[in-house]
Amino acid sequence: MVRVRVPATTANIGPGFDCLGAALGLYNYIEMEFWDKPEIEVMGEGRNEIIRDETNLVYLAAEKVLSEAGLKKPLRIKLENNIPLARGLGSSAACIAGGMLAANELICRHFSTDRIIDMATGMEGHPDNVVPALVGGFSICMLHEGKVIYRNLPIPENLRFIAAIPRFQLETVRARKVLPKEIPLSDAVFNLSRTALMVSAFCSGNFEDFAVFCQDKLHQPYRSTLIPGLEKMIETVARQGALGCFLSGAGPTVICISNEDKADFFGKIMVKTFSDEGVESEYKILMPDQKGTCLL
Ligand code: HSE
Repeated sequence: MVRVRVPATTANIGPGFDCLGAALGLYNYIEMEFWDKPEIEVMGEGRNEIIRDETNLVYLAAEKVLSEAGLKKPLRIKLENNIPLARGLGSSAACIAGGMLAANELICRHFSTDRIIDMATGMEGHPDNVVPALVGGFSICMLHEGKVIYRNLPIPENLRFIAAIPRFQLETVRARKVLPKEIPLSDAVFNLSRTALMVSAFCSGNFEDFAVFCQDKLHQPYRSTLIPGLEKMIETVARQGALGCFLSGAGPTVICISNEDKADFFGKIMVKTFSDEGVESEYKILMPDQKGTCLL
């Protein structure tokens, strides 16, 4: 039997649509073993809505790894979930990454991490959640000729990610449908420059102007129609000196980055901003995760 821990992730980080992501200290736990018939137990987040048969996402991900290795054997899987579902915190990437890594452990690490990353991205559709979920830290990633190319950088330990998590769910498919097929060249330049400077901040440790680097014109303006209060929240926390603020993945969670001392202060502002728009939410203060999915 194997037991793995898989982190939540935040994708895009403002300008890095589909290519930047970071792993956060909020975890799902997956126990897996070969069994005589498929069996799935779910505890925690999603326990009343997650499917408990072979179409379960963790099961499908694990099955994919086994079948690539030429095996077909039923599994017993126990899930302890802390990552809320369909909130932009990488719950589906956690299922895929965790399911694949656990299955790979059951077959004595038959596949390399890079191969697992390629398989996981194939299942998820974009790499910016699965890469940080598997390897931890701040990830820069792209798909090239069907394979993922990525680099990882550590996240400064003193940073806190304050996640304002609305009660409502938003499926990524729906949040991608509101995006335009084409964008103006000036918007592309706006995002390119900020993405490059954001990467330089993580490389150099110089986070000056980071709030500017978090700005985006490719997805947030379009998705703000689905997330009441998003733009106001970004403006308000910036005025109060937050290091940065952005929509987490496809939303609806919004993340603000600050130091530990001001984390509660920003969390309260964020929940109040959502509440002023009639959106119920809670905030969680999350540490960066530097390890990614690991065997316990
Ligand atoms: N980059 C993806 C998006 C992340 O923004 O649609 C979804 O989790």
